[in-house]
Order: sequence, then C-alpha cells, then structure tokens
Amino acid sequence: MQLASADYNRNRCLLHLNAIYCLQRVLGLSLDQFQLFPSFSFLFLLVSSPYNALLSLNPKRKVLFLLLFLNYWSIFVVLSIFCVLEKMTIAIEQPQIASKENVDEGFLVPDANAFGNTFRDYNAETERRKTVGEFYKTNHIHQTYDFVTEMREKYGKLDRTEMSIWESIELLNSFVDESDPDLDEPQIEHLLQTAEAIRKDYPDEDWLHLTGLIHDLGKVLLHSSFGELPQWAVVGDTFPVGCAYDESNVHFKYFKENTDYNNPKYNTKFGVYSEGCGLENVLMSWGHDDYMYLVAKENKTTLPSAALFIIRYHSFYPLHKHGAYQYLLNEEDKENLKWLHVFNKYDLYSKSKVRIDVEKVKPYYLSLIEKYFPAKLKW
Ligand SMILES: [Fe+2]
Ligand SMILES: [Fe+2]
Repeated sequence: MQLASADYNRNRCLLHLNAIYCLQRVLGLSLDQFQLFPSFSFLFLLVSSPYNALLSLNPKRKVLFLLLFLNYWSIFVVLSIFCVLEKMTIAIEQPQIASKENVDEGFLVPDANAFGNTFRDYNAETERRKTVGEFYKTNHIHQTYDFVTEMREKYGKLDRTEMSIWESIELLNSFVDESDPDLDEPQIEHLLQTAEAIRKDYPDEDWLHLTGLIHDLGKVLLHSSFGELPQWAVVGDTFPVGCAYDESNVHFKYFKENTDYNNPKYNTKFGVYSEGCGLENVLMSWGHDDYMYLVAKENKTTLPSAALFIIRYHSFYPLHKHGAYQYLLNEEDKENLKWLHVFNKYDLYSKSKVRIDVEKVKPYYLSLIEKYFPAKLKW
C-alpha cells in the first residue's frame, strides 16, 4: 500500500513535469518564462494532497516522501540543464540580445570624433562641413526611384569581379568617406575598430564581429573596377525612395529639387508601398549598404538574418536614430532593428583614434570569413 502510494506520487511528479514541458512547447513560451514553471509547480506540489498527507505520516513514510521530493528536484536540475543547452543552440540559429546595461558598461562612448567635434554634427565648423553639405545636396537630388531601380539591376548581376572578403578590405583601404563628418582614417581602421569594439562586449557573438568587419565593404563601388561611382551614390545616410521623404533625413531641404518630390506617385506617406509591407519590399537609396547586402546574400553567406539586416540598413539613420518610417516595418524588421541599434553604437563611436594591430587580429577574422563565406565571392 505504502509503495503503491510512493509510485503514485512519483508518477504524479513526472506527469506534472511532462505537462509543464508540453505546455511550454505548445504555447511557444520563451525559455525564461518556462524556467518559472518549475518554481510554480514546486509550490503547487507543496499545497497539493501529498504534502497535506505528509503531516499525518509516520517517520518512515516521511523519509520516503522526502526521497520523492529529491527525485523531483533531480528532474528539475535535468530540465534546467536542458534549458541552458537549448538556449545555447538557439543563440547560434537566432541571436538573442544581451541586456543593454551590460553593453553600456563595456563600451565607453567617446566625447569627440577624429576632428574633436561631437559625432554626426553636420553644422560643426570644420573643413569637412562644406564638403558634407555639398555631398548631401547632390545625393538628395539624384537618388530617385528610377535611379535606384537601375542601379540594383546593374550591380545586382555581380558580374564585375571575383575576390575574397579580405582582398576587398585591402581594396577599400585607399578611400576616405567624404560624407562622414567623424572620420578621416583609412577604412580598414574603421572596420577593425568597429569589429574589435563589438568583440570586446559580445565575445560569443562571432557573427556580429564579422558583421562589424564587413559592413562597409560595399564602398568598393568607389573603385575604378566598379565603375568608380561618385560618393553620393555610395555613401551617406540612406532613405526609402518611392514614398514621401521624412523630415528627419539630414539636409531634408535638398529633397525639394528631387524630381520624385513633386511626383504624386512617390510623394505620399506610403507611395508605392503599403503599411507594414516589410523593408524587404522597399527600395532604399542606392549605396554601399544595399550593394554589400546583395553581395553577401547572392554569395550564400551563412550569417544570420540580423547580420544581413545590419549590413543593409546601417546607414538608415532616419529609422534607427529618429524612429521614422516605422509604418513600413514588419515583425521580422522590428526584431532585427534591435540588433541594428546595438551595432550602430559601435559603427558610429568607434571612429576615434584607437589604433588596431592589423596583423595581430587578422588570423581571427580570417577564421570567421572562412566560417561564414566562400573563399571567393562574386562582386
Ligand atoms: Fe557604412
Ligand atoms: Fe561604418
């Protein structure tokens, strides 16, 4: 009778745990939420009949009952280990964001850029100010819906050359970005500063380190073997074309000279798009972001979708800095945007005078390139 009761109680524990686990899977609860369940179930067990019965048991039966509880906790420990392992697996397939507090502690945001001004200050009195202003005037006038369609068609063929990721870094190293009021270093410095700063704060997210390293490689469009595109068609903040320009765009006033500005097909809030259509379906002004996205995607990178989103929209400041154009996002965009916010801090604020020993870190990045990309890519 006593053993039958013990079996009954143990089976009850097992059934209870199985039920909790099934519930978690069916409801699609997060693992954090799920980890609360063993605590609830323990409380449940305390107030349920076996515990009430404990009070009236003789000492021998009490020992047996305690053994049952130990049995319960061993299952709990096994389930917890399972949860941790499952969490690690998910981190590889779909990156989870670390808490912002931890990140802010790790990365110290500098006060000034390479010119001694605050970052992204387009009015600061510097030798770059006039150049940057002129740059945006040309950019805003020429980035039309038709121009973007034509460039995507032309460069999307990826029939210009074949080279490895590291070769493209070396190719890029001879340029300075005219649109950037914060940077006067060769590009390799900026790429490695970004990647290394991320690596310091997110040591386990190797995909994000590599994203930092490659996010600007689309700037090879400036090179003669890529048609030597003018800077206004390669760099600078990006924005959707085919719908009204948001006023949060830097130097918004110059859009008034863009032919799309007065075209009723393109100048309404949604233009040729619909609410929540997803950025995937939106044409962005042409530049290194979209081009590098095409290169990575068409060469079958195994980087996660958050990495591709970062590469494609890292210059979309109206969205990730000002929160504009939210009505175009779908659910996946909203998830990926969280990672873009993490990334942007490193992209923007690592443009300082921190020097990186290229030869020292190169082997690490070569191993990441090998992990996520083919040896040669079509460009
Ligand atoms: Fe960029
Ligand atoms: Fe960058």
